[in-house]
Amino acid sequence: MKPTVQCWAVVPAAGVGKRMQADRPKQYLPLAGKTVIEHTLTRLLESGAFQKVAVAISVEDPYWPELSISKHSDVITAPGGKERADSVLSALKALKDLASEDDWVLVHDAARPCLTTADIHLQIETLKNDGVGGILALSSHDTLKHVDDDTITATIDRKHVWRALTPQMFKYGMLRDALQQTEGNPAVTDEASALELLGYKPKIVEGRPDNIKITRPEDLALAQFYMEQQA
Ligand code: CTP
Ligand code: MG
Repeated sequence: MKPTVQCWAVVPAAGVGKRMQADRPKQYLPLAGKTVIEHTLTRLLESGAFQKVAVAISVEDPYWPELSISKHSDVITAPGGKERADSVLSALKALKDLASEDDWVLVHDAARPCLTTADIHLQIETLKNDGVGGILALSSHDTLKHVDDDTITATIDRKHVWRALTPQMFKYGMLRDALQQTEGNPAVTDEASALELLGYKPKIVEGRPDNIKITRPEDLALAQFYMEQQA
């Protein structure tokens, strides 16, 4: 199903996966018959929501050219950057002759291979008439504590705390400008924070809890379990 608005996908995939402690970046680890990044890209491509998928890949990456999906006609490769935000900006620049300023871009971590088509379309349908855009997010089931030196200093009202997932959906021109203006700022750990720093108010759309990010070794088994449940 093609949405009535033009959407592009951007996939930062230039990280080294330090916390995963594997022999290669985590996006190239095997999971249910494919590599992690092949699952992620296949899900984006098969959703039918996107004109193209721009992927940021480290210039020293020997694994990417070996995957047939790197040659897919709807996949564009851009050079990765030092931080995640640099990689995203690089992929946005690779779309400059294709995307219009007001087209939507959905930025999605390569390390989140369990994203569903349902969540992609829910996000686009919920936000397509919004002036800014927004992100998939999860509420917290646990009681949350503010802590200093192993000592609780406050209980945080759970209603107001959400966990930021991806995709993060913003207008092409607005996102590019926000990332350019906040370049090098360590507070920019996701796209939304770049827009927040400029005074914009991104929305949240409640996403599915199975959209996990592969971060530590035990996450691979969990992702495999979720994929079996989804099938
Ligand atoms: N990423 C990127 N460019 C960077 C750093 C990260 O494109 N310079 C990407 C990763 O490849 C990943 C996503 O951003 O798909 C989310 O980052 P994270 O989970 O932190 O991945 P890594 O940085 O690879 O892992 P770690 O922090 O454990 O080293
Ligand atoms: Mg990282």
